[in-house]
Amino acid sequence: MKITSLFALFVAAVIVMAPVAQAEKAEDNYKLYCVQCHGSAGTGKGINAPSLSVQPRNHTSAKDMGELTDDNVFKAVKEGGVAVGKSTSMPPWGAVLTDAEIKDLVQHMRKMCKCEGKKG
Ligand code: HEC
Repeated sequence: MKITSLFALFVAAVIVMAPVAQAEKAEDNYKLYCVQCHGSAGTGKGINAPSLSVQPRNHTSAKDMGELTDDNVFKAVKEGGVAVGKSTSMPPWGAVLTDAEIKDLVQHMRKMCKCEGKKG
């Protein structure tokens, strides 16, 4: 096999793998930063939840998550609960996560709720 076709194969593999890698990264970030409050199943019952005065959102609830637009979810994660008129118990993650990582997390949560964001 020629070097150029090997390279083409490599490029093709990277293109095919990229979305998978992204999804895994969002899952890793979720496990790292979100589960202590939102729970490993995303139901809002993390180890910290009992000590919070406001209970974390259930990310698996199509009803609760379906009421939020993707923009709202993005903003809540980036700037924290206060930025969307919710509790300070939901911390801002903009200093830890890039916009791209937050967008991937939004998609990850959409998979968890099996729902689409409210439009508009
Ligand atoms: C220290 C606990 C804590 C951590 C850690 C945490 N959250 Fe939250 N989160 C909350 C609480 C509490 C609420 C509910 C706020 C309310 O309803 O006023 C919330 C609400 C949310 C909401 C709904 C916002 C809305 O507008 O209703 C989203 C989306 C969310 N969190 C995503 C995340 C993501 C993604 C992470 C990880 C990067 C994360 N949270 C980490 C406590 C936490």
